[in-house]
Amino acid sequence: MPGRSPRRYPARPMSERFTVLVMAAGRGTRMRSSIPKVLHPICGKPMVRWVIDAARAAGASEVLCVTRPGDGVAEGLPDGVSVAEQRAGEGTGAAVLAAREAVGEAGSLLVLSGDHPLLSRELIAGLMDTHRTQGVAATILTTEELDPAGYGRVVRDAGGSVERIVETKHTEGVSDGVLSTREINLGTYAFEAGELWAALDDVEEERGERYLTGVFPLLRERGDTVVAHSTRDVSSSVGVNDRVGLMDADRLAQRQIIEHHARAGVTFLAPDSVRVEVGVEIGEDTTICPATTLRGATRVGPNCEIGPGTTITDCTLGDGVTALNSFMAGAVVDDGASLGPFAYLRPGAHICAGAKIGTFVEIKNSEVGAGAKVPHLSYIGDTDVGEGANVAAGNITANYDGFAKHRTVIGKDAKTGVHASYVAPVRVGEGAYIAAGSVITEDVPDGALGISRPDQKNVEGYAERIEKERG
Ligand code: UD1
Ligand code: MG
Repeated sequence: MPGRSPRRYPARPMSERFTVLVMAAGRGTRMRSSIPKVLHPICGKPMVRWVIDAARAAGASEVLCVTRPGDGVAEGLPDGVSVAEQRAGEGTGAAVLAAREAVGEAGSLLVLSGDHPLLSRELIAGLMDTHRTQGVAATILTTEELDPAGYGRVVRDAGGSVERIVETKHTEGVSDGVLSTREINLGTYAFEAGELWAALDDVEEERGERYLTGVFPLLRERGDTVVAHSTRDVSSSVGVNDRVGLMDADRLAQRQIIEHHARAGVTFLAPDSVRVEVGVEIGEDTTICPATTLRGATRVGPNCEIGPGTTITDCTLGDGVTALNSFMAGAVVDDGASLGPFAYLRPGAHICAGAKIGTFVEIKNSEVGAGAKVPHLSYIGDTDVGEGANVAAGNITANYDGFAKHRTVIGKDAKTGVHASYVAPVRVGEGAYIAAGSVITEDVPDGALGISRPDQKNVEGYAERIEKERG
């Protein structure tokens, strides 16, 4: 303010920890979704969790999240995050006010938007550094790197301090000068808590909302300075207001994840066709082939070849596993096992070391022992296949009697014939043989041959007879 020297706050030690407030209330109507906006996942992790994880990594002492009663966001938060419910009022100002009591009057407060998921911990730390060293009431994170349409534009004074933020979601009445400004507010702020509350009380509603950005001119009127911390980091800046923004954020996050694995020794043959979710672990010298998706709590060991065309969800794969054109969820695959092409492993499948699961084979809730083979066209459910056993083509376990599931045992080193079925519960002994085409309903002792099929009958001269009959 002319004639008044700006108020300064004592520079705070860099090591001082800070409270973080994440604004995350509301459905985000432009998403057109039954899921609240901030719970939409980016590479497998809800947006709001990305924000919370970054805040914690940057040194947050406490994280508070603003939700609306019953909007479902609180249920999606990680442990240790406190919730402040926005019960009254609309807008980001009302969101922040909801946490006033929980935050208190003292210290620095970092306010984050739940819809800027890729904000990096480095940038949070940088913003806090600027805030502390400048000793100001408020510091805003800004960028000129995004398309500014719809964002709050930053209007600076002649000295470079922030004068005000002009919202441009609705452009009527906004001057051309403001609309030509590229610098936008990224919805990330450091405040001195006491100053924030005092100013926020006086912010008037616009279009039925109390804008958090309304505090900046009021802070200046009180002799406070508002500074901008500007970034050129596009990923950290990206905001999500609709599904197009969600796609942009996902693409950027995906690239970061793949680059992280590549630096750690993983080869990606066609990275743009691959999806790797955020919690996935991959060992050195593993190759991820085109059109492969690794999801959830999946761990892939070293020296594996995964894909092409393979989807793995919540599985653990050992060292040197190969998986071609396969789909698996909730399975464990030990060292040196090979899968596919076109294998399907369902929850509870455990494929032991060196075992082979081949083409068009489905395995559910079953252990396939070390070195055992199920190479072609089989369904193995609720079964223990012993070490070294060979299950021939087209073997089916009849594990379900219409009421309950029952187990099948195929003993160690057993050799089954093609097109056999096993009516569980039933046990094929160690080293036993099963004749092709058998329906096994009774246990087969160790070393025995189980055969259960009608004897063959040949009708001599049949073809000739039929031709005569047909004239
Ligand atoms: C806001 C800023 C704008 C900035 C942009 C950056 C205001 C008035 N405008 O606009 O200057 O450029 O962010 O992305 O702050 N939320 C609540 N309660 C509410 C409303 C919103 O918790 O009542 C949360 C939302 O979940 C969201 C965040 O606050 O995570 C921002 O809200 P949003 O409606 O997306 O604000 P923008 O219009 O994007
Ligand atoms: Mg927004």
